[in-house]
Amino acid sequence: MIIRPVRAGEEAAWLEMRVRLWPDSTREQLAREQSDLLAGAATNAVLVAVDEAGRLAGLAEVSLREWAEGCESHPVGYLEGWWVEADQRRKGLGARLVRAAEDWARSQGCTEMASDAALGNSVSHAAHAALGYAEVGRAVLFRRDLEG
Ligand SMILES: CC(C)(COP(=O)(O)OP(=O)(O)OC[C@H]1O[C@@H](n2cnc3c(N)ncnc32)[C@H](O)[C@@H]1OP(=O)(O)O)[C@@H](O)C(=O)NCCC(=O)NCCS
Repeated sequence: MIIRPVRAGEEAAWLEMRVRLWPDSTREQLAREQSDLLAGAATNAVLVAVDEAGRLAGLAEVSLREWAEGCESHPVGYLEGWWVEADQRRKGLGARLVRAAEDWARSQGCTEMASDAALGNSVSHAAHAALGYAEVGRAVLFRRDLEG
């Protein structure tokens, strides 16, 4: 299994993982975001885990954010998406993806990395902690339509 940036031609397999990671988003929205990510390569990177047969087994999407909770420097490397296929978990792939995301952030001049997880996602909390991420806060998110 190797970790490398996603390549042209892998959009469909990448999208399938995004659909599983963000089931509350529509497929169309997630596909649109992929186009934005590919167009904004200066401010984000998409790392994928690829097996010997060329199948995608996991992803880490990382961006540069101007600011992140608990951080003192800017920009900050931010782990926007993190997914390993269910049958490939607990083999160290998630850790390798995050380390690759951190390497990319370091290459962009970042000295800190940040991330988030849903309040109830205890697996993600444990995995973040195992990789050296300290909890710096908890949040409830809100939105409201301004139209009409
Ligand atoms: C979070 C996720 C990416 C981790 O991927 P992974 O390949 O299983 O991670 P690793 O094998 O590198 O695990 C690293 C460490 O994290 C911790 N960890 C991972 N999964 C865990 C679990 N289910 N329970 C407790 N600790 C866990 C362990 O300390 C583990 O090290 P160990 O296996 O040597 O004990 C994967 O569980 C996943 O895709 N989950 C669903 C999507 C998700 O929640 N993504 C995060 C959104 S914020």
